[in-house]
Amino acid sequence: MAFWALSLVALRVGVGEAADGVTTVQCQNRSIQINTDISRPCLCAFDVDRTLTGYQELLSECPRNEVKDGVKDFAYLYATPRGFGFLTLSELAQGLNSTFCRRCYLGVASAGGAGLDDEKQVLLSVLHAAVDPSLSSALPNWTTEEDPSQQIESEAPFVVWCGEGGKHRCVSKIVEWYSSERNVTILDEDVYFFDDKEDNIRPFVGTDYNALQVSCESRNGSRGLCGGLPSEVTPVRGVVLCADGAQVCLEDIDHSLVETSKAGHIALAAVALLLMLH
Ligand SMILES: *[C@@H]1O[C@H](CO)[C@@H](O)[C@H](O)[C@H]1NC(C)=O
Ligand SMILES: *[C@@H]1O[C@H](CO)[C@@H](O)[C@H](O)[C@H]1NC(C)=O
Ligand SMILES: *[C@@H]1O[C@H](CO)[C@@H](O)[C@H](O)[C@H]1NC(C)=O
Ligand SMILES: *[C@@H]1O[C@H](CO)[C@@H](O)[C@H](O)[C@H]1NC(C)=O
Ligand SMILES: *[C@@H]1O[C@H](CO)[C@@H](O)[C@H](O)[C@H]1NC(C)=O
Repeated sequence: MAFWALSLVALRVGVGEAADGVTTVQCQNRSIQINTDISRPCLCAFDVDRTLTGYQELLSECPRNEVKDGVKDFAYLYATPRGFGFLTLSELAQGLNSTFCRRCYLGVASAGGAGLDDEKQVLLSVLHAAVDPSLSSALPNWTTEEDPSQQIESEAPFVVWCGEGGKHRCVSKIVEWYSSERNVTILDEDVYFFDDKEDNIRPFVGTDYNALQVSCESRNGSRGLCGGLPSEVTPVRGVVLCADGAQVCLEDIDHSLVETSKAGHIALAAVALLLMLH
């Protein structure tokens, strides 16, 4: 119970009546339903860079992140003299087992390549360790020389090189994979995707999946800085974006944009009127 209450505070929303595994949440002006009924199979899919990871080795700004010494992570550092930093797990990656996702099937949809074999291996072991054993056994195991055919390249449920803005399609592939390879049927509404970039979250508007932007408190331009937090991983129905350092429902953000542009029009009209009077 404490967990839900905390999550809701983090979202700056209020709780309505709880009934039959569904909690109604007031997302500013809209009632949204949080599915707390984990009896149905659910899927949590994650972006990698700045979601499961943070800016490499930046413990000065992200003191709770964890550096994996020796594991090269090239993300966004290609153009620097060194070309990489060591893989740095976000608080989300370390605390995944404290979120509702520990009861869900897991997947990854990364626009980058998720590093070399060693980074992929660490990330996969993070996923394995986060969930209950029956869910963990549904994930592929890491195998290398013994069976190269098993190596992760770009296959579901660990999808890499999944283009920015097209992640909803990769998430579909993960859902299909669980159906065809694991005989697990996951309803669209029980699918949750987490990513630090707005460009990857917005396209989920056209789907029945849920998508939440993370790393809202720590930003690095259009990217996250420290990566996701466990408190940002909640089973909220719909699409949630970062605004002013917090997660806010898409409708509320777009509503305020409309208000702003209206105010802008009024200001322009006033200026035009003043000019005419002169
Ligand atoms: C909430 O919805 C009502 C009725 O549609 C509308 O009048 C009001 O302006 C909305 N408020 C916000 C903050 O969106
Ligand atoms: C999550 O995993 C970490 C590290 O394996 C462990 O220390 C922690 O107790 C676990 N938390 C929960 C809620 O299971
Ligand atoms: C992965 O390995 C574990 C332990 O060896 C095993 O129980 C599980 O079935 C394996 N999973 C797959 C998909 O092969
Ligand atoms: C798939 O799952 C369904 C329902 O859980 C079950 O009835 C069916 O036997 C399973 N099929 C296979 C091939 O395991
Ligand atoms: C991103 O973070 C790095 C490390 O703190 C910093 O050097 C860089 O200026 C930041 N870029 C933006 C756009 O915030």
